[in-house]
Amino acid sequence: MNKRRYSVLLLLLFLLTSCMNSQNNIPESPTPKPRPVLLPPHSTPALTNTLRAQAAARGILIGTAVDATALVQDSAYAETLGREFSILTPENAMKFDALEPAPNVYNFKQADELVAFAKAHQMQVHGHNFVWYRALPDWIKQGSFTKAQLSSILHDYITTVMTHYKGQVSMWDIANEVLDDQGQFRTSIWYTTLGPDFLDQAFRWAREADPHVQLFYNDYGTERPGVKADALYALVKGMLARGVPIDGVGFQMHVGLGDPPTKQAVIANFQRFADLGIKVQISEMDVMVQGSSLPLQQKLQAQAHLYQDMLSACLSVSACEAFTMWGFTDRYTWIPAATGHPDQPLIFDQNFQQKPAYTALFQTLTSNP
Ligand code: G3I
Repeated sequence: MNKRRYSVLLLLLFLLTSCMNSQNNIPESPTPKPRPVLLPPHSTPALTNTLRAQAAARGILIGTAVDATALVQDSAYAETLGREFSILTPENAMKFDALEPAPNVYNFKQADELVAFAKAHQMQVHGHNFVWYRALPDWIKQGSFTKAQLSSILHDYITTVMTHYKGQVSMWDIANEVLDDQGQFRTSIWYTTLGPDFLDQAFRWAREADPHVQLFYNDYGTERPGVKADALYALVKGMLARGVPIDGVGFQMHVGLGDPPTKQAVIANFQRFADLGIKVQISEMDVMVQGSSLPLQQKLQAQAHLYQDMLSACLSVSACEAFTMWGFTDRYTWIPAATGHPDQPLIFDQNFQQKPAYTALFQTLTSNP
């Protein structure tokens, strides 16, 4: 090796060692900042053969109500939930009777567990709900409050809960089932004691408590045009005209096999709400099969078609950003307790096996738009 080559080699060696040394001397990077809790709705989970992965590819969230007790007691339940869904709604854990069982005594334990699960599984949380005529603690139901007292109780409740979950819940049902089946304000302690202003006030207090969370109105029997849906449309239009901060409407979609809404009717209805400049979503879908005389396999096929049609309706309206079911396994559905009859309204059976409805949803998500 001649002298020149030898010097170049030495120089290269020097540069290489000093570079390695300087890398070794780089101070350890500071502790990474915690990831933002609210994930973008289109974040991609690791598995691709799941509803949540396919929903993400279509730009929507796929959700379910969650039974807080099942979540801690049933590992198959927890595993399926984390694998398949990108947003969860606490079925009961964020209701008034659960969160404030006695005046100024808050119990966030179960709801916090759901929020922690969602965070660990990169899911969003849909808070449910503040103003409802049901799920009230006895101290509210049995108290005889003046308008000023009840107003202050509701204000404190909304502010405390929204502050507790700030940054961890991406949307809240501020009002739930405020209208009756004729589209009039439903009799409730809120309406009776506070008058119709309670609705606007609840949304305004919520926006003050957390300016970044989406505020929803949620109801049933409003999925297709009709007396109640028309009344809701007028109500929301009025709220927007008054500057009330409402961001969206959830259509529950608790349906059965007899006289279900058609896809076209749902699209038309969703679109008129979307044209007001707000979001829409399917917030609590399930499909009862009781009452139908069809053989079981045919009932499950008809059920699958309905799930498919309603998901397809949501995908057809760009303002429809979430498709949530009221549970996912027939093992824990609310319907038998409420109706007194067994039922199979969801997309996994009692043993967490996929039903035709699961396949129908998966195929709808993967089929060409
Ligand atoms: O927590 C008690 C428990 O301590 C007790 O042992 C048990 C005995 O029955 O009752 C338990 O409370 C029940 C609770 O569900 C939890 O299982 C309540 O009685 C029961 O009324 C409650 O029902 C819930 C209902 O809302 C009322 O809050 C259902 O699970 C829940 O699926 C249902 O969800 C509603 C949505 O919030 C709004 N849209 C309609 C939907 C279906 O009704």
